Amino acid sequence: MTKLLIEGGNRLRGKVNISGFKNAALAIIPATILTGSLCVVENLPVIQDVLVYRDILSRLGAKVSIGDNGVMTVDTGTIEKCEIPNGLTRKLRASYYLLGAGLGRFKDVTISYPGGCDIGVRPIDQHIKGLEALGGKFEIKEDLIRVSADRLIGNKIYLDVVSVGATINIMMAAVYAEGKTVIENAAKEPHVVDTANFLNAMGANIRGAGTDVIRITGVETMHGGSYSVIPDQVEAGTYMIAAAVTKGDLIINNIIPKHLEPVTAKLKEMGMKIEEYGDSLRVHYEKELEPVNIKTLPYPGFPTDLQQPMTVLLSTVPGESIVIESIFENRFKYIEELLKMDAKIKVEGRTASIKGNPKLKAADVKATDLRAGAALVVACLAAEGVSTVNDVYHIDRGYEFIENKFMNLGAKIRRVEDDNPIKTV
Ligand code: EPZ
Repeated sequence: MTKLLIEGGNRLRGKVNISGFKNAALAIIPATILTGSLCVVENLPVIQDVLVYRDILSRLGAKVSIGDNGVMTVDTGTIEKCEIPNGLTRKLRASYYLLGAGLGRFKDVTISYPGGCDIGVRPIDQHIKGLEALGGKFEIKEDLIRVSADRLIGNKIYLDVVSVGATINIMMAAVYAEGKTVIENAAKEPHVVDTANFLNAMGANIRGAGTDVIRITGVETMHGGSYSVIPDQVEAGTYMIAAAVTKGDLIINNIIPKHLEPVTAKLKEMGMKIEEYGDSLRVHYEKELEPVNIKTLPYPGFPTDLQQPMTVLLSTVPGESIVIESIFENRFKYIEELLKMDAKIKVEGRTASIKGNPKLKAADVKATDLRAGAALVVACLAAEGVSTVNDVYHIDRGYEFIENKFMNLGAKIRRVEDDNPIKTV
């Protein structure tokens, strides 16, 4: 098992370039199936989840390659059917997008049940409701999900829960549905908009993405083309929070500041100085930070994917803060690890009550999921002494070059394999 050794206590300073957005990439890559043509997708993060999706497309019969520069060339014209019953789809959550994309193009899809981070029950009832409303018929047997249709016909779909995955999946299937589809109570997250922009660039007709009503008029054909994925606001937010935790001074480059407003607002409320320069933000520490309360909400509320690093930050800020996780019911598991570092946090249901302790201590901790792993790295950067973060594979699913990026900012991190232990940083 790979681990990270981190010597904490260094103020981060310098510039960091943000990679393409994982969660947009993981929707746009399967969306290329709908085009049945040659697509070039740029600004992809070269992370494990993207490589798994490359393997899924290749297994389906696409001609696909990705370079170290994050450019994927994919021709989905060679795919004949959408069947991945071999468990590959269990490696990530976003494999559920094969349902919408495959149904849209082939009217028949079979996949193993999607996997992903263990942060709650994560039902897919809203995906099923939406695809059924378009004409899809589901058969779910043990681990396998099949959805097929004779015809897809546009419909009006009201989502009972604001769901990113269901919104994107329905949008994909509706691209070729006859007539008009309207998704009400749709998710407004930037990756919903990015996926709609990709599909429109390839010939789809989707209006209203970014609002809670999305209207899709079915088209008969799509075509290939080039598209560049938006920057990763979760990665950017993680570095912004790391600047605050280490009392540092960072320039965060290649971002869309608008997407970061919930984080920027909270960090400013705490006392961080944040200046905007086009597609960059300078985030710097000036004075002792104040505690704040956070409630995670769908976009443009505070993102659940940054709840963990934010909780780490608040656990170092003197005073009392409350964090409420309203999206996923099981996203506080990493707090047990934080307690090993002397954080003072009490969890009751979906509420974490924090008493700030400015002196976290080094510990041997493990990543319990992707964002939890990144949060623990941030905690270790603040803690006195040398910490170890185990189960780094979770982090590698979603953060590109995490230790190199932090090292360029002055952090002391070393990646080691278990069979080659190195005791000092
Ligand atoms: C996406 O997950 C992201 N994953 C998550 O990021 C992110 O945390 C989440 O959206 C919220 O922003 C990807 O994009 C691959 P949802 P998704 O459907 O689509 C409930 C990360 O770390 N729900 O918006 O699975 C659900 O249980 C990951 O990068 C239903 O009840 O999230 C949750 O409470 C983790 N029925 C809420 O809705 C459904 O059919 C929002 O989930 C679907 C969802």
